[in-house]
Amino acid sequence: MTAADLAPYFARIGDDPLRDAFTARRAVLPWRHKRPLAEDAVPATWARLMSSHRSPNKRLVYIHVPFCANHCLFCGFYRNAYTPGSAASYVDLLVEEIEHEAAAPVPGNQEIEAVYLGGGTPSALSAKELSRILRTVKRSLPLAPDCEITLEGRIIHFDPEKIDASLEAGVNRISIGVQSFDTAVRRRQGRRAGKEEAIGFVGAIRDRNRAAVVIDLLYGLPGQSDRIWSEDLRIAADIAPDGVDLYGLNLIPGTPLQQAIGAGKFPAAATLKDIGAMYRAGVEFLAAKGWAQISNSHWARTPRERNVYNLRIKEGADCLAYGSGAGGTLGRYSYSVAADLDTYRDAVTAGKKPLDGMRVSNSLQPARNAITAGLEVGRLDLERIALPHGDTLAARVAPLIEQWRAAGLVLVAGHVVSLTTAGRFWYSNLISAFDSILSEIDPGAVPGVSADANHIPELHQRASQPS
Ligand SMILES: C[S@@+](CC[C@H](N)C(=O)[O-])C[C@H]1O[C@@H](n2cnc3c(N)ncnc32)[C@H](O)[C@@H]1O
Ligand code: SF4
Repeated sequence: MTAADLAPYFARIGDDPLRDAFTARRAVLPWRHKRPLAEDAVPATWARLMSSHRSPNKRLVYIHVPFCANHCLFCGFYRNAYTPGSAASYVDLLVEEIEHEAAAPVPGNQEIEAVYLGGGTPSALSAKELSRILRTVKRSLPLAPDCEITLEGRIIHFDPEKIDASLEAGVNRISIGVQSFDTAVRRRQGRRAGKEEAIGFVGAIRDRNRAAVVIDLLYGLPGQSDRIWSEDLRIAADIAPDGVDLYGLNLIPGTPLQQAIGAGKFPAAATLKDIGAMYRAGVEFLAAKGWAQISNSHWARTPRERNVYNLRIKEGADCLAYGSGAGGTLGRYSYSVAADLDTYRDAVTAGKKPLDGMRVSNSLQPARNAITAGLEVGRLDLERIALPHGDTLAARVAPLIEQWRAAGLVLVAGHVVSLTTAGRFWYSNLISAFDSILSEIDPGAVPGVSADANHIPELHQRASQPS
C-alpha cells in the first residue's frame, strides 16, 4: 500500500491523542470480510460441518434469549417484549434445538470451555426456565470441568429464586447490566430500579460469594455529567465486584435514544471528545484502585474473573450458537440463527437448524483474528501473525505503526506493539487499518482457498455476542 492509501488511517498528531487522534471511531463488525454463502449451499454446508468439523481448541457456546421487559432507550439489542407465555414457548424450542443438534457427531466432539447465556435479558426468564436451559446444556454438551458459565441479567425481575436456581444449575459468572447508579440517569433510559436498589442488588449477589460478579457501566449517557460518572466509578469500586466493563455510549441509529435526541426531546449526547475524557477517567480511577485492565473495556479485581468467553470469542474461537438471534462460528464458517421468532419456531418444529445465513472467511481470517484479539487486550506481537507464503505483517504495517507511535497511540518494543490509553480508545480504527492492509493480499492466490460467492448480496446478520 502506498502512503496515500494509508493516509485515512493516520492519526492526527496533537497534544491529546485521546481526544484528537481521529474524528470518528470505525465500526468493526465480527463478520467483516466474510462472504455470504449462497442460500442453496447453506443446508449441505451445515450438514457437513455437523458431521465432520473438528475444532483444534476447546469451544464456546452462546445461547440467546431475545426478550426484554422494556426497550431501554440507548440499546440496539432489543428485539421482543417479554411475556411469560412467549418466553415459555421459546424455552421449549430452545431446548429442542439444543437436544436435536446434540444428536449430530460434532457438538460432542470437543470440550466446551465457556457458555454464555446472553440477550436480551436471560434473567427475565423464570427460575424453572433458567434451570431447564442450563441443565439441557450440561446434559447435551461436553462442558469442561472448569467451564465458565455466564448468565447475563439486569436488576429488575432478577429475584433470589432465579439467582439460586442459576447457581444450582452451574452458573459461575453473573454479568449485570447496571449502566449507571444515578437514579435520574437510569430512569431517563427506562431503567426502573433506583440507585439504592441497584447498589443493594449487586452487593447481595457479591455477598453470596458463589460466582464471579461483573457489572456493565455505560458512560456518555444523557445527563451523566463528569461528576456522576466519577460517582458511578466510586460506587462500583466500593461494591467491589470481581470485574467491571466500561462501555462508551454508542448512539445507535434507530434506537429510541437516537430518535429522542433527533426530535430535540433530549439534550445532545456526549461528544466523542467527552467520551474519550470519560474513558481516561475510568482507566485512571481503576488503575489507582489496583484493578487489572484485561481488555480495552474490561477490568478484573479478583482472579475469579477469568473473562474466558469474551476473550476467546475475539480470538475467533469456535462457538456453537443456539436461540433466535444468536451467532456462531465453526472454523472458516460463521452462522446466524433466525432472528425472527416465527421463522425460528417453524424451523425448530420441522427438526431443522433455524439458520438465517452463513458466511465464509478466507485464509487471512487467522491473521485477522490474531490482530483483533491482540488489539483487544492492548498488545500485539507482529512476528506471531502468520500470513500466507511466509509474508510478514511487520514490514507491511511499519509506516502505520511509526505514525501511530508518533501520534501517541502505541509503544513499540521490537515487534511488539502495545496500545497506550489513547490507542485503546481508538483501537477499532487500528483494526480497520490492519484490515485494509490485509485486503491488499489476494487470498485467491493462496493454494486451497476458493473465492467463495463473490457476487452474492450481503445477508442480514446481527452480532448477538457481546463485544
Ligand atoms: C447485550 S446488552 C444486555 C444487557 C442486559 N439485558 C441489561 O439490560 O443490562 C450488554 C451490554 O451492552 C451495553 N450496551 C447496550 N447498548 C449500548 C450502546 N448503545 N452503547 C454502548 N454499550 C451498550 C450495555 O452496557 C449492556 O449492559
Ligand atoms: S439494555 Fe438489556 S433490557 Fe434493556 S433493551 Fe437492551 S438488552 Fe434489553
